[in-house]
Amino acid sequence: MRDREKSHRNGCPWRGTISDVDPADFYSGIVVEAYSKLKSSTFEAEPYASFVASHGEPGLEIGCGDGQPILDLCASGLDVDGVDSSLDMVNRCRENAAHRGLHMLVHHQRVEDLSLGRRYPSIYFAGPTFNLLADDETALRALVAIREHLSEDGECLIPLWIPDPTPVDEIGLTRTTEDGSGVELRYTPTSEVYDAEARTRTTSTKYERVTATGRESVDRDWIIHWHTPTSFTRLSFKAGLRLVDLRDDETGQAASTRSTDFTATVRRRS
Ligand SMILES: C[S@@+](CC[C@H](N)C(=O)[O-])C[C@H]1O[C@@H](n2cnc3c(N)ncnc32)[C@H](O)[C@@H]1O
Repeated sequence: MRDREKSHRNGCPWRGTISDVDPADFYSGIVVEAYSKLKSSTFEAEPYASFVASHGEPGLEIGCGDGQPILDLCASGLDVDGVDSSLDMVNRCRENAAHRGLHMLVHHQRVEDLSLGRRYPSIYFAGPTFNLLADDETALRALVAIREHLSEDGECLIPLWIPDPTPVDEIGLTRTTEDGSGVELRYTPTSEVYDAEARTRTTSTKYERVTATGRESVDRDWIIHWHTPTSFTRLSFKAGLRLVDLRDDETGQAASTRSTDFTATVRRRS
C-alpha cells in the first residue's frame, strides 16, 4: 500500500516522503487524532459486556484502539485485556485508562501475529475491524492465532461487513472538525477502487491537521477486505475453528447471501 506523506509547516512545503504503510499501521500519526474526532460510528459496550459476562473472564478486545468500548467494560468491573497494532492507539488507550483510574493490560501486537501467552474464554472485535485484514491470507493467520488464544470452551465474536462502493458524491467531499483549541482536522476520500472479485475496496484518503502555524497531511489507502457468509465459513474451518453462529445484525436471523452486516461466533474445532 502506498502512503504518500507530505507535511507543510508555516504554509511552506516541509518535506514530501513516499513510504509503504502496512494496513495494520493505518491508524497512526495524525490519523489517530482525526479518527477519534471524525469517526462516524461508535460501538456500544453492552453487547460486548454481555458476551464477556456470559462466556467468562478474562476477555480480550482485539483492535481496541484508544479504548472504546473496552474501557467501559473494565469500568463496569469486567477483566478485559486489549490489543492493537497501532502503538499510537495503544498509548492513547493506556492514557485514557489511567485517567479513569483503570488498571488493565493493553498489548501492542497484530492479531495475525498474536502471541500473548494467555488463553481467553471470551475474545471479541468491537465492530468490523476484522475487515481491515487486507487479504484472505492475513485473515486466515488471524483466525489461527485467535484459535490458539481461545480456551477449550472459549468463543470469539467477529462482526463482519460487506461495504458498498463509497457514493460518488462523497468522493472529494471533506469532513472537518474544529475542537475549539485552534486545531482543525480534515478527512477526504479522494478516489476508490472497488474490486468485487477480490472482495476488496481500496479508498485513497487524505487526512489533514491544520493549525495557525501550518498544515500536516497524510495520504493513506483505507482497505476493506470483506467475507461472505460462505467464504468466512470456509476460512474459519481452515483455521481449525467451528462456526457456532452466523447472524444477520439487522434482522437477527441466520445470515444469508443477502446479509451485509453479520456477526460470526467461532470456537475451537477440537
Ligand atoms: C476502526 S478502529 C476501532 C477502534 C476502536 N474500537 C474505536 O471504535 O474507536 C480499528 C482498530 O483496529 C486496529 N487494527 C487494525 N489492524 C489491526 C491488526 N492487524 N491487528 C490488531 N489491531 C488492528 C487499528 O489500529 C485500530 O485501532
